[in-house]
Amino acid sequence: MNSPEASPLEVRVAAKTLVAQDICTLDLVRADGRPLPPAEPGAHIDLHLPSGRVRPYSLCQAPGEPRYRIGVLRDAASRGGSREVHDEVQAGQTLRMGAPRQRFGLAPQAEQHLLLAAGIGITPLLSMAQALQAQGRRYTLHYAARSRAQAAFLDLLGQPAFAPHTHLYLGDAGQRLDLAAVLSQPQPGTHVALCGPQRFIDAALACAQAAGWPSAQLHFERFGAEAGTGPSDPAAGDQAFEVELARSGRVIPVAADQTIARALAQAGMEPLLSCEQGVCGTCLTPVLAGEPDHRDSYLTPEERAAGTQILLCCSRARGGRLVLDL
Ligand code: FES
Repeated sequence: MNSPEASPLEVRVAAKTLVAQDICTLDLVRADGRPLPPAEPGAHIDLHLPSGRVRPYSLCQAPGEPRYRIGVLRDAASRGGSREVHDEVQAGQTLRMGAPRQRFGLAPQAEQHLLLAAGIGITPLLSMAQALQAQGRRYTLHYAARSRAQAAFLDLLGQPAFAPHTHLYLGDAGQRLDLAAVLSQPQPGTHVALCGPQRFIDAALACAQAAGWPSAQLHFERFGAEAGTGPSDPAAGDQAFEVELARSGRVIPVAADQTIARALAQAGMEPLLSCEQGVCGTCLTPVLAGEPDHRDSYLTPEERAAGTQILLCCSRARGGRLVLDL
């Protein structure tokens, strides 16, 4: 259906490594031995798991490495994806993977980068730090984890190249990342990249906005919408509406307690889904007419205002009908 990418690639799990408590990495190479497509720092891929689940993961390898690396947190609130990676995926196994997609890149015009990570949010920022290090550009990485045991990639970040740029905050050592202090002084030319759970992003953005950082200098990616608070389920008071599929003329009713994706699936279609929480962008679909009611965390304010795209897993219609380019 609305595939935003070419057919998935077959990849082989070249290595699986436990790099911290409840965090493993998978190294992925192409099953046919050919080179992987280039990936920019901050890019993510959709991994198709043996169960059929599709999950987005940020790439965290250094630039130019011949394999991709993803880091996966075993999430107690998981809907099954992270548990499957930890418990069932093994080195040597063949999986399918979508091409890298980029929503969270380094601002090319920045003179300096401030990278703020919480928990598993370190993964895209690790790829950024490695790229900035390789290019000799100015950056500082602040990384908060609940404990030393739950902090990943400490061997790498402790190396002489990275250590002077890295500030580590370990909760079990009584250390805390003071977002208000780190973001207290907006700097022209400095761009901030944030990655972590929703509460961390919200707190960081609130501090940055209170300090007067221009929104154009703030870039973020949320990880792991929290259990029970994900945006995908309709809310009380939501109304039924219809979606018209422009290519076939079919009209599909969407009930008040249904998402567009579920209504399409019920009508026999197979919308491509991944996070199902409005975070990853896999289900992004062009809107030809009607007004979307955006419920996602993926589109920018400008994209929301334009109203020409919608996330099928969570967003709805303001009027009675949306016309989709499907
Ligand atoms: S499936 Fe991830 S945003 Fe819809």
